[in-house]
Amino acid sequence: MARHLITSALPYINGIKHLGNLVGSQLPADLYARYLRARGHEVMFICATDEHGTPAELAAAKTGEAVADYCARMHGVQTALADGFGLSFDHYGRSSSDRNRRLTQHFAGRLADQGYIREVVEKQIYSHADGRFLPDRYIEGTCPNCGYDKARGDQCENCTKQLDPTDLIDPRSAISGSTDLEVRETKHLYLRQSALKGDIAAWIDAKADWPILTTSIARKWLNDGDGLQDRGITRDLDWGVPVKRGDADWPGMEGKVFYVWFDAPIEYIAATAEWADAEGLDDNAWRRWWRLDEGAEDVTYTQFMGKDNVPFHTLSFPATLIGSGEPWKMVDYIKSFNYLNYQGGQFSTSQGRGVFMDHALDILPADYWRWWLLSHAPESGDSEFTWENFQQSVNKDLADVLGNFVSRITKFCRSKFGEVVPEASAYGPEEQALIQALTTRIRAYEGYMEAMEVRKAASELRAIWVLGNEYLQSAAPWTVFKTEPERAAMQVRMGLNLVRLYAILSAPFIPFASRAMLEGMAVSDASWPADVPAALSALPAGHAFTVPEVLFAKISDDDRVEWEQRFSGTRA
Ligand code: MF3
Ligand code: ZN
Repeated sequence: MARHLITSALPYINGIKHLGNLVGSQLPADLYARYLRARGHEVMFICATDEHGTPAELAAAKTGEAVADYCARMHGVQTALADGFGLSFDHYGRSSSDRNRRLTQHFAGRLADQGYIREVVEKQIYSHADGRFLPDRYIEGTCPNCGYDKARGDQCENCTKQLDPTDLIDPRSAISGSTDLEVRETKHLYLRQSALKGDIAAWIDAKADWPILTTSIARKWLNDGDGLQDRGITRDLDWGVPVKRGDADWPGMEGKVFYVWFDAPIEYIAATAEWADAEGLDDNAWRRWWRLDEGAEDVTYTQFMGKDNVPFHTLSFPATLIGSGEPWKMVDYIKSFNYLNYQGGQFSTSQGRGVFMDHALDILPADYWRWWLLSHAPESGDSEFTWENFQQSVNKDLADVLGNFVSRITKFCRSKFGEVVPEASAYGPEEQALIQALTTRIRAYEGYMEAMEVRKAASELRAIWVLGNEYLQSAAPWTVFKTEPERAAMQVRMGLNLVRLYAILSAPFIPFASRAMLEGMAVSDASWPADVPAALSALPAGHAFTVPEVLFAKISDDDRVEWEQRFSGTRA
């Protein structure tokens, strides 16, 4: 059995995430973590809220809370929503934690010791109206690369180019809208990424198995030289990790903080330390996941993220780790996603367009969303949420195929044999053929899950459900029962075992329904069906069960129309 470290990109603390955010990192990461656990691997699945930087300050300013209070509250909100969606993090940390403060200062100190930090007196934009510097998202303007007119000072959302505030054309304050701006001098620390370019290029070149979406973005940055210019890693802000060199003060940097993109990925490590602290474990408990000299040599590390995050994870964060000169575990595989669109446009947090995690759970159980999102994950290109497609997919896949199978077979058994697996003879040729077909498909499903081919895994799982329905349809125990009750009993025994099998196989996608199925079938051994024939005899004659509640209700046309209307914009 292997050891798997899995991280999901850290959602910004500001506000509730929409379904596009969810399917771009946390949800597929959860799918993978659940699958690997089910296969018996040791898994450490880490996520956290990304709490520093301008997004947090701006959001807190809007609600009128102190930024620390705002972050604490929103961390609670995001934690509850993560639970609601069944995201099975081993720890959901906070980048504002003490652990992250110390580790971030540690890395900065190491980078300085290794000669990878230089101090730069640079020009930053100062706003007279706001009485402060305007780094990153505090400033908006037109992207010099693509002309998008709402580009932010740190990155253009439209073309993903990383920017400096002074790059923007027609800049304006994101706080006041003021254009009464002045360029002033201020001292900052720069990470000498350019000096690490060779190391990083060699590291990326060795990743032959990475998806094209990931490597093409990384190579583009490397070859443009663009992403590997030296980058400022400090800011003139109040909220963040105070600039220190390890434990020591950094002369001339008083009152400044590290840039959010410097401390955020370090939180992957820090959150693992937070996990150990919460469990009352010592430092080795987390260091064995992260330090190659303390046990992490046999760890496989997989990161999940949206495509806009790729440059930071293929270039900036590796530069921090390599530049430290310490043996930190680096990512083995990056699974990145395109965007999910909403009804012919984009999800928009600012305009409240689309479905957000809280509203989603208000109207339907998590599994409905998990199933649709994962089976339509934007892997090979952008994908689109439409209410019609969602309704169709839920009603067909979940209600008609899986839900109907479970209810039909369990209810039929109850009516003829009671809520107990009937006594029956051995499986016949139809059943053997079914077992054959299932085995082939289950092995394919495992292959897709291991390869993180999310959509293909979903369609294989659906095909596995369909096999059960087709079997039941052609076996027709309700007809057979009239003339050959013993044979019908055997068919029912197969059907009930299929319910158990489906619960186990489907758990990574729809963990709540899976639990209901396992509970209904009173399954004590839910181990993975490595041996399919054996798995289909796991529930023996005499095993008692209860017919599960309706697993999936259909979405009516009225519901669909109402929701489509409700989520069309301007979030309440
Ligand atoms: N908060 C960032 C975003 O939503 C992602 C941060 S990932 C981390 O785009 F690695 F930096 F933490
Ligand atoms: Zn742009």
